[in-house]
Amino acid sequence: PPKMTSVKKLAESRGLASIPPVYTFPSNPQDEASSESEETIPTIDFSLLTSSDPNQRSKMIQELGKACQEWGFFMVINHGVSEVMTKEIIDAVKEFFDLPEEEKQEFQEKHVLDPIRYGTSFNISVDKVLCWRDFLKVFVHPEFHSLNNPPGFSDTTLAYSEQVLKLTRELLRGISASLGLEDNYIDKALNLEKGLQILVANFYPPCPQPELAMGMLPHSDHGLLTILIQNEIGGLQVQHKGRWINVNVIPNSFLVNTGDHIEILSNGKYKSILHRAVVNNRAPRISIAMPLGPALNAIVRPAPKLLDNQNNPPAYIAMKYKDYLEAQQSSILDGKSSLDRV
Ligand code: SIN
Ligand code: FE2
Repeated sequence: PPKMTSVKKLAESRGLASIPPVYTFPSNPQDEASSESEETIPTIDFSLLTSSDPNQRSKMIQELGKACQEWGFFMVINHGVSEVMTKEIIDAVKEFFDLPEEEKQEFQEKHVLDPIRYGTSFNISVDKVLCWRDFLKVFVHPEFHSLNNPPGFSDTTLAYSEQVLKLTRELLRGISASLGLEDNYIDKALNLEKGLQILVANFYPPCPQPELAMGMLPHSDHGLLTILIQNEIGGLQVQHKGRWINVNVIPNSFLVNTGDHIEILSNGKYKSILHRAVVNNRAPRISIAMPLGPALNAIVRPAPKLLDNQNNPPAYIAMKYKDYLEAQQSSILDGKSSLDRV
């Protein structure tokens, strides 16, 4: 098969004034979105969630539960991950995308469960219209994979991934508690000691006709929680009460969202939420999403303690995470269609 064309390379071709038809969505893909002014994404203070004062902690757990139920998105502040470290990983990712195409091609056209994968759009073997996005996906846990090139990429991603893993597991302890489960219920039931953590780096170059293109189509995330950082350029929109809302990220905070496996585990009490990325004609946008999911061989089902046969029967079937992930990554990105199959 012919080698893919990255949108980065396409965008850099001289005099590109319009986008090729294969990137053009039939009608106004970036429809109306409101800014976050009236509705504000909740903020979770991580230092209070981990406070030794039980009152502080239980107050934060309540807020966390409310954020999961009402939004499925929240910002985490006072998370303890240094600003230097987040800046370093964004720079490292930028250096990767800046490598000559020949050097990135080694990781192209891999199977969706390959631990290192470089590509464009979402899945070019099924996408009908291509998204204005290049990506690099690296499995960083339970086994740490990385690239030797660019230099320093491996050290930077290891340090960041470890910190984010700790943070995510702690957030999941809070979420377990907010559901009325043991703090370590999710950690144990889904074997997070072997949980699958992925570095998903996204590159959205400037697009000459941003209103005709999409960076990423509306989708929910497959894992439990996704932790997102980005450079200073906006573009993420989340769906809330049926409307698209532009996300303005607070500097030095993490944006966190609940994934499909939180929805399954909570038997639908906490939903995974649709989000998408739009593009612009001004500056390249980089985002780094780091989903944490169950162990690949874990079987996920609604927590038995949350079920009762009369009033709250299981709304999802039990499924192995690996099968779910493989199906989701091999299909067209289409809202929450992967979850509909469960
Ligand atoms: C994602 O949904 O994984 C990333 C969206 C973004 O680029 O902000
Ligand atoms: Fe996502």
